[in-house]
Amino acid sequence: MDAEEFRTLGHEVVDLLAEYFEEIEQKPVFPDVEPQALRRLFDESLPEAPMAAEAVLEEVREKLLPYCTHVGHPGYMGLITPSPNPVGVIGDFLCSALNQNIGAYSIGPAAVAMERRTVRWLTDLAGYGPGAGGNLTSGGMMANFLGLKLARDWASGDRAQHDGLEGRWAVYASEERHVSVDKAVDAIGLGRNALRALPTDARFEVRLDALEQAIAEDKARGIRPMCIVGIFGTTNTGAVDNIRELRKIADRERMWLHADAAYGGGMLLSRLAPMRERGLELADSITIDPHKWFYAPLDAGAVLVKDERRLTASFGMKPSYLTDEMEGANERYQYYVHGFEQSRRFRSLKVWMSFKRYGAAQIGEWIDNNVRQARHLYEMVAERPEFEAASEPPMSAICIRWCGTEMDAAEAKRFHAQVVERVEKSGEFWISTTELKGKTWFRINPVNFRTRTEHMDQLLALLEQECRAIAG
Ligand SMILES: Cc1ncc(COP(=O)(O)O)c(C=O)c1O
Repeated sequence: MDAEEFRTLGHEVVDLLAEYFEEIEQKPVFPDVEPQALRRLFDESLPEAPMAAEAVLEEVREKLLPYCTHVGHPGYMGLITPSPNPVGVIGDFLCSALNQNIGAYSIGPAAVAMERRTVRWLTDLAGYGPGAGGNLTSGGMMANFLGLKLARDWASGDRAQHDGLEGRWAVYASEERHVSVDKAVDAIGLGRNALRALPTDARFEVRLDALEQAIAEDKARGIRPMCIVGIFGTTNTGAVDNIRELRKIADRERMWLHADAAYGGGMLLSRLAPMRERGLELADSITIDPHKWFYAPLDAGAVLVKDERRLTASFGMKPSYLTDEMEGANERYQYYVHGFEQSRRFRSLKVWMSFKRYGAAQIGEWIDNNVRQARHLYEMVAERPEFEAASEPPMSAICIRWCGTEMDAAEAKRFHAQVVERVEKSGEFWISTTELKGKTWFRINPVNFRTRTEHMDQLLALLEQECRAIAG
């Protein structure tokens, strides 16, 4: 492809996307298509002969675009994948073209500096001091894994990196944790059964008495407490654990404290309620996802560490083929020495560009709008006896259920699933279901700068209509 062809194709793609964003609200949120039809659509062997780029783009237009889940549509309020901000989209385009490899300084000097600045913005937001550091990751799943690995290495006195773990250890998190915590406990060699899933109170915050009891029981059985994972914004309801109290317990028991703010970290930009009093900065490490509530396109997660040196203690290996002889006075920051991954995408570019273009003020306003929308839905539900809300939403996530019909648990599960299916078919909204304290709920989470308050009115009206239609 020569420069001219690249230019023509690039302009066409930008035109296509500008139109896509302009018309997104008119599209059905979810495509009306069966999985088998999609498999057939792409059923072909590896192409032998080249094709004109125009024709390839035409296939993308025909086979991909009509069958996307349009997460930028204001009615998308499902699994936490926000409307990507357009500046971030351009950032990712640039990122792929430049292909800077953030793992090593020699493959992206300015990119490494930008990434470090972006990490610094995030550590400042979290309330960490100048000694903090971090890594941009593929997402919260990987960031939670890194946080747990940091915990393990620190708790073992930096032996586990070399010798593995001796004895039995335990990790503590609430029943509302994300599944990434279970996977991380497994991946660091403890086994999933080493995770103590603690009950929550009526606001879905971890019960401190249950934590104390679990620690005491483990110690009595010779099991050593390693780490508490506090949640700053649960996936289902946005509940925030009391990080201040968790810190006190972690200190007393010599445990690492990791905070999962993958979703809830967005609240740090809120102008209305940034939740500073919750003490996020007291955690030893934090997961925070710009690709969630900072509206960055996938992928951009982050793990932040209060003491940057812990990254090096956990990951600081330097094979000869990577050693940079020009490193001199350690001015060439080598991410591969301070993190798990080596080759990795220049994820910070889109985050950096988005912060510059919109500023914290605009992004904070989007976040506050989403919080207001969840509260509006909560207030409407409070006035309707056929619905109940699981809790008053502290963030944008809200769970509500139909209680206008007598049903046992299995019937209620089927009922809510059927309603969600009809909502999906409507093409107007996309929401999911979840389980909380033994009951099935509609799970609704607008992390979307296009969503407006009126969408909440329309969603509740649709839910009411579909619930009544099924209830008969
Ligand atoms: C609280 C929490 N932690 C971690 C994750 C995992 O993040 P990711 O999907 O970016 O891997 C999620 C995803 O929704 C989450 O809600």
